[in-house]
Amino acid sequence: MSPEQAVIVIGSGLAGLCATTQLIAHRIPVVMLDRAAKPGGNSIKASSGINGAPTRFQPPLQNDAADLFLADTRRSAGRPLAASVDAERARRETLITTLVTSSAEAVDWLADEQGVDLSTVAQLGGHSRARTHRGGAGQKPPGFAIVSALLESLDREPLFQLRTNTRVTRVVTAKEGQEEGKGGMLGVEVAGQEGEGNRTETLYGPLVFATGGFAGDTHGLLEKYRPDLAGIPSTNDAREGTQPLLEAVGAAVVDMEQVQVHPTGFVDAKDLAARVKFLAAEALRGEGGILLDGRGRRFVDELATREQVTAAVMASASPLEEETGLRQWDVSLLMDEGAAAASKTHLDFYRWKGLMRKTTVGELALPALRDTLQGYADVVSGKTPDVFGRTAFGNWTLKEVSSDSVVYVGKVTPVVHFTMGGVVINEQSQVLDKDGAPIQGLWAAGEITGGLHGQNRLGGSSLLECVVFGRIAGENAAAFHQEH
Ligand code: FAD
Ligand code: SIN
Repeated sequence: MSPEQAVIVIGSGLAGLCATTQLIAHRIPVVMLDRAAKPGGNSIKASSGINGAPTRFQPPLQNDAADLFLADTRRSAGRPLAASVDAERARRETLITTLVTSSAEAVDWLADEQGVDLSTVAQLGGHSRARTHRGGAGQKPPGFAIVSALLESLDREPLFQLRTNTRVTRVVTAKEGQEEGKGGMLGVEVAGQEGEGNRTETLYGPLVFATGGFAGDTHGLLEKYRPDLAGIPSTNDAREGTQPLLEAVGAAVVDMEQVQVHPTGFVDAKDLAARVKFLAAEALRGEGGILLDGRGRRFVDELATREQVTAAVMASASPLEEETGLRQWDVSLLMDEGAAAASKTHLDFYRWKGLMRKTTVGELALPALRDTLQGYADVVSGKTPDVFGRTAFGNWTLKEVSSDSVVYVGKVTPVVHFTMGGVVINEQSQVLDKDGAPIQGLWAAGEITGGLHGQNRLGGSSLLECVVFGRIAGENAAAFHQEH
């Protein structure tokens, strides 16, 4: 295969893999570039699952429908959606509608065509129904399962070439492409691998950017757009964001200041000062887990949106006193045996890492714990309404609390997790310039794009956007390739 005839996909996370899978289905060669040593990006770490509604895996009696998912997504998007007008409003609405109305097909595509088990469904924060799909007990975590299924089938393809340790440093304009005799194609400049000195290489062709977000870019884009988040640890490795590469060739960006702080990153007692934390999957709360302050009191509906739960942690829990150079709070995540059994795969891993432990109510010695748990058990049994408004309780089964009641606990704190802002795209995944016009030969999908989620992304909707807009990008890049 000549790389000249290939579509160039930058980023080997879920968005890039989905675009590539579509391109290969049209028998179009793909060169995939990734700066990391191993493929998969943040996608491979995804822990709670992918949204879809309505699907055959959801509990049938809950009667989910696309319009309920649509309403939840709009509500969660908040002010950036509500305050937008005219073409911008229409663009955001169309992205949301495309995401939601393609969600059932996205889940079916992964399950039926890629062979991924998505048979377990949980309700995450801000959702009015259980619609976040992952594998059953003993299966791989969802990000790993999805990414490895796609990679395995691409690896068998002679038309697919993956180049890791290959960082894109610049996008080459169509004008430069014209001057180089490449027929006005865009291109990318890539840095030589370590040990190759300053050698750079330029590849020309249709480009699909799937380079993810900037939640780990602490001293770059985060400092520029959200200096107030300084000191909060992250679930993302410290890597720079790539939106500026596309801005340099005219792409517009939107909502760059909308950064998601997830309420529950694990605080490892052995490494309190770690800046990059393991995530305590939201599915743990979805399956019944609750959050407690330092005295053992609940303080929030644990299934409110991430934005709301994080705000409640910062307002109600005490800051951790240890000197770590980080801003962290004293919060415990607690599960009873019912919630724990439903989260067994996750829990086994977190216990093995020493991030959660099995104990009893008595051993925990938190002054308010026993009353809190009995109060919560009464809410779950329907004896009293929840003062915080929680209405979904997952698989919590503990009814009569004693000091011998078995529970599972871990320490958690808010973590910078996801960036809602990014390059502007339309529903065809075309990257738009500041006048709203598509930049020819350039598509983007996944976390690098902005505007779809507004001020809060619902858990499970990032994997979904990667599948939906990644596949659309692949389809449209394929049509462009065939035309030119
Ligand atoms: P990524 O998967 O991050 O891939 C981007 C790739 O681009 C990376 O491999 C990177 O190395 C490469 N790259 C970047 N810049 C360059 C460059 N200049 N040159 C070459 N390569 C480059 N979302 C959900 O919906 N459900 C979940 O359960 C879930 N769980 C999560 C758990 C964790 C711990 C984390 C961190 C995130 C989770 N998310 C979840 C969010 C979701 O995983 C990501 O937002 C999503 O996977 C992003 O996918 P992507 O393809 O856009 O980017
Ligand atoms: C999580 O498992 O809590 C992360 C889910 C997501 O980011 O969508």
